[in-house]
Amino acid sequence: MLAPGRSCPSSYRYGPRALRAEPSLHAESLWIAGGLYGNAFALAALLEAYAREPGRKALVFNGDFHWFDVEAADFGRINDVVLAFHATRGNVETELATPQDGVGCGCGYPDWVGDDTVRRSNRIIERLRATSGRLPHTLAPLRALPMHLVARVGDARIAIVHGDADSLAGWNFSQEALATDSGLSDARKAFDAAGADVFASSHTCLPVLQSFPGGRVLVNNGAAGMPNFRGERCGLATRIALSPADDAIYGVRCAELFVDAIPLRYDHAAWEEHFLEQWPAGSDAYESYFRRIVDGPEYSRESAVRAIGSDPICSTK
Ligand SMILES: [Fe+2]
Repeated sequence: MLAPGRSCPSSYRYGPRALRAEPSLHAESLWIAGGLYGNAFALAALLEAYAREPGRKALVFNGDFHWFDVEAADFGRINDVVLAFHATRGNVETELATPQDGVGCGCGYPDWVGDDTVRRSNRIIERLRATSGRLPHTLAPLRALPMHLVARVGDARIAIVHGDADSLAGWNFSQEALATDSGLSDARKAFDAAGADVFASSHTCLPVLQSFPGGRVLVNNGAAGMPNFRGERCGLATRIALSPADDAIYGVRCAELFVDAIPLRYDHAAWEEHFLEQWPAGSDAYESYFRRIVDGPEYSRESAVRAIGSDPICSTK
């Protein structure tokens, strides 16, 4: 039995064949925002950017929209806004709505994440549970959210997950796993098993845009609600569309499909102040995340954009 925060419960597992389902969403522009982490300022920036998108569009929050929002008013507001769009649950929402013994935050943390971080995350979910417990009407809708969605954009099948093709809290779509030959090989098998042209994920906190031969793309938006690169204070959302984005910070075009990373330039000063009201110096979220919120993680845009060989179908920008 793995320690709380490291295990991946059997109820989280669905397997790639579950992603062969008929698409439930059809759009010309599909926006996907995972890892909002309770940042209402990033949510406002996202909605503003999404409002400017013309045509037939859809917005999906693919999990972990709650995390830092331990103030009940924040939690309730974010819950209401997110659930007005399409949403899937992440491990955070699952462990709020259906807490399981010994699972902790449900993050399924791998070896490279230290024990201190894991313990702090387990305490963060406990504090957030106290908040959601004061808003019990929010729990049934969270419990009812699916773990994955399939969408169609043009002719492309988009499999939207929180973790990876196997499970809600899987790390196979992390930048770390995709930096290995075995990780890339596993991902290619997942495309075959799921019948997907694009996988859109989140959960692992760092973004990656990995192109595969044959016009397949795996896009992990990192975090919508936290900085993703050293020295850059913006969250990221994924946009998958039949037209290019105006303001992508990087992207790839595969035939008719544009897969872009959209920056969410939220009010950093206001968010920092609000974060500190909820998580002052010495608190668990402060210890785990404050440096990242201020400076960004030790990661760069250049490290996030990856391709295997050269593919005549796809070109990065
Ligand atoms: Fe997660």
